[in-house]
Amino acid sequence: MDSFLIKGGTPLRGEVAISGAKNAALPIMAACLLTSQPCVIRRVPNLSDVRFMGQILNWLGAEVRFSDGNVRVEAKKIKGAGDYDLIRKMRGSFCIMGPLLGRLKRASVSLPGGCVIGARPINLHLKGFKSLGANVKTEGGYVHASAKRLTGGRIFLGGRAGSTVLGTANVLMAAVLAEGVTVIESAACEPEVVDLANFLNAMGAKICGAGGPTVTITGVSELRGAEHEVIPDRIEAATYAIAAAATNGQVLLRGARADHMHAVLDKLADSGVRLETSAEGLTVRRNGRLKSVDITTLPYAGFPTDVQAQMMALMALIPGISIITERIFEARFTHVSELARLGADIEIEGPSAIVKGGKPLSGAPVMASDLRASAALVIAGLAARGTTQVNRVYHLDRGYENMDIKLRQLGARVQRIEES
Ligand code: EPZ
Repeated sequence: MDSFLIKGGTPLRGEVAISGAKNAALPIMAACLLTSQPCVIRRVPNLSDVRFMGQILNWLGAEVRFSDGNVRVEAKKIKGAGDYDLIRKMRGSFCIMGPLLGRLKRASVSLPGGCVIGARPINLHLKGFKSLGANVKTEGGYVHASAKRLTGGRIFLGGRAGSTVLGTANVLMAAVLAEGVTVIESAACEPEVVDLANFLNAMGAKICGAGGPTVTITGVSELRGAEHEVIPDRIEAATYAIAAAATNGQVLLRGARADHMHAVLDKLADSGVRLETSAEGLTVRRNGRLKSVDITTLPYAGFPTDVQAQMMALMALIPGISIITERIFEARFTHVSELARLGADIEIEGPSAIVKGGKPLSGAPVMASDLRASAALVIAGLAARGTTQVNRVYHLDRGYENMDIKLRQLGARVQRIEES
């Protein structure tokens, strides 16, 4: 398992190209199952999760070809079952369920199971499928759904932590070929959901209201192939913005869309980070001292849970107290104990972490656990004195394209140690 060897203390300077959004590319690739015609998705990030989704589509019978950051998917004939071994490796692949049900009116997909950040239930997904008239049962670790015909209905997708991103995606992809009108109340408003809706509409679907809490889908009889360019990854952009602030640097995030990042940029500005948007993207610079800010993660357009760990790493560097409250996932503090190994002073109080920032961090070997927790450890290592070894960086490779290369381009002293 590869690791990163990071020599801290160098300010990040220069520019970094922001890749296509992983969390948009995955459901959009799954949506290609809804038509027998070829689709071309551009600006698909070269990530293990994306390549894995390609394997799943291929396993289902689609022809999948990656080249130069694009992927061509042609799902002429497909089977309606997603195998346990495939789905358990990446819970995001559960979003094949909606298109399989939409196109074939039957689907059997393994229960995705939980992960290090929480139980990751799918009750809202199944509620949505049932509201469209599907018979849904879970048996032997699989979800089986089938319907003679799918008929539009009204669906409330609000759960204990707000809406569900992939649940909204799954219901959208099942509803586009249902008969009649479907109205989703308390839909997820994330930009990645909007991107999926835009792709589905390019395929001939009739979706309006995506990006807001009420989305209306008028079913059509079939969908055609389409081309689409994936939006830039707002979480990757936020990660590099925070790394620039943590290392007292100045970085142009080329292609970043500030309009997808208001909550993150608001908190960085409150902390004293200088931000400048231009046609090229977003420039982040830190000059002088920053101050601690409090964070509470919320559904979009609130502060994204996928940036919570990275922000915690920054707050650990700033003198003062920062209270970081995680409202989306029940166990998303796995980075706290690893940050403490670098000298961070953080105490967990229920859903909140109390960060007593300002103690200088010093390098140490640390273990990556979840995708974003790993990014937090890299940020802390870049700012710490001495050398930090971040182990198990395969977590990072799931969601950050060429992170070591991009960081070196910004002047960071990062080396990937390949272990056989
Ligand atoms: C998506 O996961 C993202 N993944 C996650 O990013 C992100 O953290 C999450 O949305 C929240 O923004 C992808 O898009 C591939 P949810 P998703 O369903 O859709 C509860 C990353 O680091 N819930 O919006 O699986 C759930 O327990 C990953 O890139 C139910 O209760 O998340 C959680 O508390 C990590 N019942 C909350 O909703 C359900 O049926 C939000 O989960 C579904 C979810």
